[in-house]
Amino acid sequence: MKIFLIGYMGCGKSRWGKIIAAHYGVRFVDLDTLIEERENLTIPKIFEKFGESGFRQREHDALKSISNTENIIVATGGGAPCFNNNMEEMNRLGVTLFIECSPSLLRERITNSDTERPLVKNFSQDELLDYIKRHLKIRMPFYEKSQYKMVSGNLELGDFTTILDPIINL
Ligand code: S3P
Repeated sequence: MKIFLIGYMGCGKSRWGKIIAAHYGVRFVDLDTLIEERENLTIPKIFEKFGESGFRQREHDALKSISNTENIIVATGGGAPCFNNNMEEMNRLGVTLFIECSPSLLRERITNSDTERPLVKNFSQDELLDYIKRHLKIRMPFYEKSQYKMVSGNLELGDFTTILDPIINL
């Protein structure tokens, strides 16, 4: 059983991934952390050194590296579903769950987060909101290929377990 959490930067994939994994007593995998460990470099450094395409290749490789690992909850990077047929691969490997979130909430979370995100650095607040709106339009067709969807805002663990209890058969 593999559950992939899908969605834009700041939608809460890592936060909820940890909570859900602890609830079901399974391993939590953060795809970005896995890439950082494999490269021994931070995500911003990987972007700096290899460019976005180099990062996307490593992201794809990291995804392939967990294809035989069972009983995991995976928080994917916001762009992971949109490159290299990763969305099809995740749908083939397990269950995909899209956490949808409004642009204004995403902006707030990205702004207040400690995570360094190369794609959205150095923007003013207005520019950031505009970028998120435009970027989401491009990414939505990929996110919408997820098997399940929930809307971020007032989420509770019960919203996830309602969907996942029937699926998770440990
Ligand atoms: C990215 C999202 C980031 C990280 C990288 C690129 C993206 O992950 O993979 O900075 O393209 O949306 P989070 O969604 O966890 O911030």
